[in-house]
Amino acid sequence: AAWEKKIRHSSTPRRPNGFSVLVTGAAGFVGSHCCLALKKRGDGVLGLDNFNSYYDPSLKRDRQKLLLKHQVFIVEGDLNDAPLLAKLFDVVPFTHILHLAAQAGVRYAMQNPQSYVSSNIAGFVNLLEVAKAANPQPAIVWASSSSVYGLNTQVPFSETHRTDQPASLYAATKKAGEEIAHTYNHIYGLSLTGLRFFTVYGPWGRPDMAYFFFTKDILQGKPIDIYQTQDEKQVARDFTYIDDVVKGCVGALDTARKSTGSGGKKKGPAQLRVYNLGNTSPVPVGKLVSILESLLNTKAKKHVIKMPRNGDVPYTHANVSLAYRDFGYKPTTDLSSGLRKFVKWYVSYYGIHTRVKKDSEIRSEHPED
Ligand code: NAD
Ligand code: UGA
Repeated sequence: AAWEKKIRHSSTPRRPNGFSVLVTGAAGFVGSHCCLALKKRGDGVLGLDNFNSYYDPSLKRDRQKLLLKHQVFIVEGDLNDAPLLAKLFDVVPFTHILHLAAQAGVRYAMQNPQSYVSSNIAGFVNLLEVAKAANPQPAIVWASSSSVYGLNTQVPFSETHRTDQPASLYAATKKAGEEIAHTYNHIYGLSLTGLRFFTVYGPWGRPDMAYFFFTKDILQGKPIDIYQTQDEKQVARDFTYIDDVVKGCVGALDTARKSTGSGGKKKGPAQLRVYNLGNTSPVPVGKLVSILESLLNTKAKKHVIKMPRNGDVPYTHANVSLAYRDFGYKPTTDLSSGLRKFVKWYVSYYGIHTRVKKDSEIRSEHPED
């Protein structure tokens, strides 16, 4: 296979600690950013992605082109292809896996339940089976989700809070992933670190997410739907900027204890940890819309729907003190400056001629509450 030649002959510089990372979901939003960050600091990086058409695959292809420019190669394949995964491990003795491939999105699960089971449960188990058999066993950092907190009303969410009320099948599969990880850690001693991301946004983002298609619809003068909670209050999200999440992923990879590893000594029992990676500052969806209106200098046609979107939770808010304690995670980007970076990318990527307001202008229109 072409990738095999490339990898075998690759002169990828390795960091002194010899990191070699398999990134699944590398053509995805979070995956592509993480690949670049890891490559920049000198890790060996190989991507895996099936380029599915859940959203516009040409965006995934463009992310792939960007990665290629930085000598990051993505193998096209599925998590459920066991022989392919085994082959990858035959060729490269990965020290780490950053597992981000999944069927994301909350609403899509209503019509396509099987794709969540296939990628998020069966695919995850397949990856763990290969990792378990690999020598050395890689340390695994994988994406869980804030959605595991479901209808829990105790806020801010801490990792010890209840996660037994998932509000969507997506959330249920992410919760199942955490249970499965516990089992593989317990039986096979795999090192597993789960990261509960909170509504991540930024350049090269996901077109199925609200901030992305709100931007598109506002620019095109189309109406946008704003859902409320059961008691007709505003829904709020702990929107987290992509660069903060990437730093969290890299920090978690650095901290993941390898039970074995290239040159690494056995350092006691492999860990199983789960961390929140959020922004610690929830913002109502109405405020997200008004920041976008300011940035784009355009009024949105708002259509308020006085009930929750199917599968939605009313509120998310992360307590990140555990991630701060263990790997110094500290979100630094507020919503208006992060959205500005997203909108700048959006208009440039889609070739739209419009002036995006400066940070200082936005701040004066939206002083911190
Ligand atoms: P994304 O959809 O952009 O990226 C996921 C990638 O995985 C896609 O490129 C897709 O083609 C690939 N993929 C899906 N199923 C696959 C399979 N079976 N085999 C191989 N590749 C497959 O999503 P993202 O926003 O980058 O999310 C990354 C991870 O973070 C996911 O696990 C997601 O559930 C989780 N997460 C994301 C957010 C967020 O707000 N973006 C929040 C919480 C959790
Ligand atoms: C996001 C991701 O899509 C999930 O993959 C991820 O797991 C989850 O974050 C997470 O944090 O775990 P969500 O927060 O629902 O899920 O993101 P969006 O679909 O972008 O919705 C954001 C907010 O906008 C929600 O409160 C939703 O009710 C609202 N919304 C969405 C609207 O008001 N109108 C719409 O048309 C769409």
